[in-house]
Amino acid sequence: MTDPGFQPQEYVVNDVFDTRVSKSRRMYVKEYKKIGEGAFGTVVEAMVAEVDENGQQKENPFGPFAIKRVLAQTEYKCRELEILRLVIHPNIVRLRYFFDRKSRTDGKIYQNLTMECLPSNLQNEIKYYRGSRYTIPYPHMKAYTFQLARAMMYLHGFSISHRDIKPSNILVDPSKVKLKICDFGSAKQLEPNAPSVSYICSRYYRAPELIVGCTVYTTKIDIWGLGCVIAEMFLGKPIFQGLTSELQLKEISKLLGPPPNTFFFKSNPQYHGNMFSTKLFTCSVQERFKLIFCNSPDDVIDLLLKVLVYDPEFRATAASVLVHPFFDELKESNFHVYPRGSSEPLRMDLYDFSEVELNFMGDLKQKLLSRP
Ligand SMILES: Nc1ncnc2c1ncn2[C@@H]1O[C@H](COP(=O)(O)OP(=O)(O)O)[C@@H](O)[C@H]1O
Ligand SMILES: [Mg+2]
Repeated sequence: MTDPGFQPQEYVVNDVFDTRVSKSRRMYVKEYKKIGEGAFGTVVEAMVAEVDENGQQKENPFGPFAIKRVLAQTEYKCRELEILRLVIHPNIVRLRYFFDRKSRTDGKIYQNLTMECLPSNLQNEIKYYRGSRYTIPYPHMKAYTFQLARAMMYLHGFSISHRDIKPSNILVDPSKVKLKICDFGSAKQLEPNAPSVSYICSRYYRAPELIVGCTVYTTKIDIWGLGCVIAEMFLGKPIFQGLTSELQLKEISKLLGPPPNTFFFKSNPQYHGNMFSTKLFTCSVQERFKLIFCNSPDDVIDLLLKVLVYDPEFRATAASVLVHPFFDELKESNFHVYPRGSSEPLRMDLYDFSEVELNFMGDLKQKLLSRP
């Protein structure tokens, strides 16, 4: 992102909390590039170095880091920090430091979340390939989807719902085909049967139960987002592009058929909006998927049929996604990819699961680890 108004800044902060060793340090920060601007914050790229009491650098600046700056002291922001401190996973962006600092322009206190920095996000990647009339290569899509589902399995194991899954919140390093979820600004640890606001998630990626105003939803809302992201990688554009929140449901019905009556009743018995009960195509839902994903392999269509399901109860879990045959190729001992612009094969082992993750897999653990 190029921002002509961006002013590079260098400063020293006395109380920078280092999450690796759980202690505060005095640090020099050199911000040199703006890399993101969202609804709630600015993200800049920076290098940092520890400094002594006299302000002398103890080491050469290192990085790069991505610093997300948001207004401090709102309930919303505390949650992002709290959750980021809790989650340590190879496919979730790692928080390295955080500090509060007063802005020189408006005098307000901002919270600065200092994270590892990745070179791109999935939205840029999809756009890049679309611009050259291709899609992301299949093996890369597989590797990305697997890593995304793996991060979700971990989060959902702690009952944490990300609540804003979409390509711009998914960081990637195309040179390593690595993926990490970011932006925990909407994330929440959900408690069973406790209500939460339904107006979360960006429209195109909103699960149908949220569209109709369900307030006791589950982490399955993220699985819907996962389905939309997979579909977008294959199609090169968002699959459901509703003009309004209500019309979003119509777009979904163009692929899945009309929502069943039980769906409305289970999600929100008080729903009074349009139910889009007229079937807009004549073939079966399976045939409809094949038509929309006409250039995609059967195994991904089968996966999408299990993920893009109206009723969250019958929608796949992250664990069941991970054991889908679509990923069998990743289990092969010589699975490799050719990162963009490279003729060197890159071997990838995506099955280095931790004990915590394997416990979250439950009954599906054996299936996950079995070799084809
Ligand atoms: N750790 C990071 N490394 C690289 N880029 C990042 C990082 N975190 C955020 N970004 C970029 O900044 C954008 C906005 O950050 P995000 O956390 O999504 O903020 P917002 O809540 O404003 O959407 C992201 O879409 C991404 O492109
Ligand atoms: Mg974001």
